Amino acid sequence: MKIELHKFIKMTKKRMNGKHTNYLSEMRILVALFVYLLGNHLNAQTATMNVQARNTTSLNGKWAVIIDPTGIGDWKQVWQEKQPQSKTDFTEYSFDGGPELQVPGDFNSQMCELAYFEGTVWYKKVFNYKVSEGKRIFLHFGAVNYLADVYLNGEKIGSHEGGFTPFQFEITGKVKDEENAVIVKVNNNRLVNGLPGTGYDWFNYGGITRDVDLIETNDTFIEDYAIQLKKESLNTILGWVKLNGTHAKQDVEIEIPELTLRYKTTTNEEGFARVEFKSDFELWSPENPRLYRVIVKIKTDFLVDTIGFRSIEVQGNQILLNRKPVFLKGVNIHEENPYRKARAYSTEDARVLLNAAKELGCNLVRLAHYPHSENMVKEAERMGLMVWDELPVYQHIQFSDSLVPQKMEVMLNEMVRRDKNRCGVIVWALSNETYPGTPNRNEALFELTQKCRASDSTRLISHVINTQGYENHTVNVWDPLYQHSDLVAINEYFGWYLPWQGKPSDIKWKFACPEKPVFISEFGGEALAGNNDGPSDEAAYWTEGYQEQIYMNQVEMFRTIPNLCGVCPWLLFDYRSLGRMNQVYQNGYNRKGLISENGEKKKAWYIMQEYFRENQ
Ligand code: GCU
Repeated sequence: MKIELHKFIKMTKKRMNGKHTNYLSEMRILVALFVYLLGNHLNAQTATMNVQARNTTSLNGKWAVIIDPTGIGDWKQVWQEKQPQSKTDFTEYSFDGGPELQVPGDFNSQMCELAYFEGTVWYKKVFNYKVSEGKRIFLHFGAVNYLADVYLNGEKIGSHEGGFTPFQFEITGKVKDEENAVIVKVNNNRLVNGLPGTGYDWFNYGGITRDVDLIETNDTFIEDYAIQLKKESLNTILGWVKLNGTHAKQDVEIEIPELTLRYKTTTNEEGFARVEFKSDFELWSPENPRLYRVIVKIKTDFLVDTIGFRSIEVQGNQILLNRKPVFLKGVNIHEENPYRKARAYSTEDARVLLNAAKELGCNLVRLAHYPHSENMVKEAERMGLMVWDELPVYQHIQFSDSLVPQKMEVMLNEMVRRDKNRCGVIVWALSNETYPGTPNRNEALFELTQKCRASDSTRLISHVINTQGYENHTVNVWDPLYQHSDLVAINEYFGWYLPWQGKPSDIKWKFACPEKPVFISEFGGEALAGNNDGPSDEAAYWTEGYQEQIYMNQVEMFRTIPNLCGVCPWLLFDYRSLGRMNQVYQNGYNRKGLISENGEKKKAWYIMQEYFRENQ
């Protein structure tokens, strides 16, 4: 049941005999208010699977906006769009007469007034809809960064927190036959207890950054399904189908025409059916990214998905793809189209980034440091690139804040729910460079790891860490999180942030988990493309030669690492990060890219490309 905040307070006051008699009653009201807000803040429904296969009406396009830097729009109750009721009435806000922004798309890159904006923008879209008898309607967002409060025809339908995962609201019975107005309050202010927190090394693009759709379904529809190979199997599917609606008990049919396969089962009273069947699949791999057309059918719904089948596992100190050792030739990518200088969201954006990764010789992309768009994950899979899917549990996280574990779990569920049928995704990465000394960090991340394993046992789970010691030219890898990771993923910047203490080939390694595969998840250094002015052995000149030397030394060092199962340079393209303030060389860019934001390949690119070529 959704109630307006002011009604809620009135109701609570009434319960408190209508007056704030003392501090205790005030506190009780505040606690009740907190519970209300918590409920409202996390009440978005988990999104319907495979939106692109549904009966959708896109709400993409121009949305009217009100830019609200002081956040006063809440107090004015902008979403009610009050109209003057008399000759002396007036309102001091309106969507009419204001600017429009393109959805999907971040707002920072669309208006110069918003270039560095972190605050509130109110979006409004008017749509007409013909509601059909017996149908259900959902309002689905691919992502909104960072907080979204959603209103339909003046009524709040819910909120969502998190900038990189989908969410939706059922609006059946709330849509009018004629004009409807959806208003979204978007706020990208940094939150101390946010995911990420207040400090991160990328540009904080805000806005409705991915697609918005109305989804129409029958009363009972296929809400969710998992169809992937059972762990360690090459021929057995183990999954499930979940229906949503009153006709929960239905026959389900899963068809894979290319295999002349038709599997039947029946859902139980809760609409759930376990799925298990064998077949002789052509397995997905980077060399052969084989995908099948999979049809899921019930009496009142059907959908088509494109699904690949592969096995990924750790055996001893190796990673096995389809039971064969695989060396992960990765590259880090932020969700930014370098040429548009904007948040990437489309398949075209994905191709700009992924084609460069393929040209480098990669077989994996680490989608740093948050879940990228579904278009990116699907395109990577189509192109034969394995995907490292990561949560924005990044560096400074308030693990001891009582809300943070729940926020992490919601975001984990939203990421796994969306991508669990993408065979290209081989790693769920649950944190990056968090600090062991942060209160509750270990406990919270151990628990999150268990939750991830419970929801999907078919993929590898990793935490990315940079707490290794480096003394006497010896690297001591010790973090307790590695006990809960399938990989030992290390970010190291020898040669950039940390000068070498000796010859790279003489470096020594000590591991607390010596039996696990080791993945160098970040390494590199900065250079301004085309700049070779200044001594190439001095970092402060940002020369390509200096960066090239880092890569040559790193390649030499890789040969010393026991159990090395892959490497992943930081990163593919130079990208925007406002903390990078050297105004000669950086100008708001992190210049560790192998390619500049203008597409210029740096000398280091060729060192990396050669290394990957040698490690086929
Ligand atoms: C860290 C971090 C990255 C960051 C990089 C850098 O390892 O994971 O997000 O951008 O180092 O300092 O460039």
